[in-house]
Order: sequence, then structure tokens, then C-alpha cells
Amino acid sequence: MNILMVCLGNICRSPLADGLLRKKVEEAGLTIGVDSAGTADYHVGSPPDSRMRATAKRMGCPIDDLRARHFVVADFDRFDRIFVMDKSNFSNVLSLARSKSDEAKVELILNLSHPNRDLEVPDPYFGGDQGFSDVYRLLDDATDVLLNELQK
Ligand code: 4NP
Repeated sequence: MNILMVCLGNICRSPLADGLLRKKVEEAGLTIGVDSAGTADYHVGSPPDSRMRATAKRMGCPIDDLRARHFVVADFDRFDRIFVMDKSNFSNVLSLARSKSDEAKVELILNLSHPNRDLEVPDPYFGGDQGFSDVYRLLDDATDVLLNELQK
């Protein structure tokens, strides 16, 4: 099983989702691949945003070693499930799908913790520090639910 987390820049939300799930999977002793990517290429090669790194470190889940990359069509072949942060990411990823099977891999991540509500992880990039703590709480909850699913 391989899981991909996707946002716009791959420097705030999806690297945190990636880091949280990696840590939980490792602590649970599961062999599951976890990665993240962005639908935009502005930040390719960059570490996560310093504010997201600081929040993650404070909460005990450092993500300093991750580097942004661009989502590519081949990710549909490498990954079994693709979690997007918001509806814009959802339509950007869906627009690259080649088949119904590609499309079926794509899910809004907050439907894990809030089933069928189609809620979005707000983009914290242009806001204040509170936005980063909010993203942490939302993604910590969603990845807890995912880990429980994966352990079944
Ligand atoms: P992310 O946040 O999609 O959670 O990584 C953003 C990062 C950068 C930009 C927008 C959102 N940007 O416009 O550069």
C-alpha cells in the first residue's frame, strides 16, 4: 500500500500530512509507503514552509527533511490512495486522471475524520500562526482515522 498526500505548493499542508502519517505508520510497525506532492511547481525542491516546520517540531513531528515535488501523472500508478487537502486540489488532480480507476484513488482527506462532509483543510500560507495550528489539529485527527483503517 502506498499513500500520497497532495496540496497546492507541497510546502504547508501535504508535507505535514505526509510527516504525520509516516510517523504513525512507523510507530505502528506497518510497511506502507507515504509521500506528498503539489499540484503547482512553484516550490519544487524547497523544504516545508518555516512556520509549518516550527509547528510540526513543537508538536513532536519534525518535517524538516521533506522536499517539495510536483504531482505527476505517474503518481496514479505508484500510489493506491491519493488524499487532497481541498476541492481545488481535487479538481486539479482529477483533471490529470486517465481512467475511472485513477479517479477512484482521489479523496478529500477530511472525509476521513468528517465522513461525507467534503470539508477542506484551509490553506494557511497567507494567514497567521493560528492557521498552522489549525492545520495540525485537522491533519492529526484525519491521519489517526487513516491509521486505524490501515491497521484493520
Ligand atoms: P500548501 O500552501 O498548498 O499547503 O503548500 C501553499 C503554499 C504556497 C502557495 C500557496 C499555498 N503559494 O501561492 O506559493
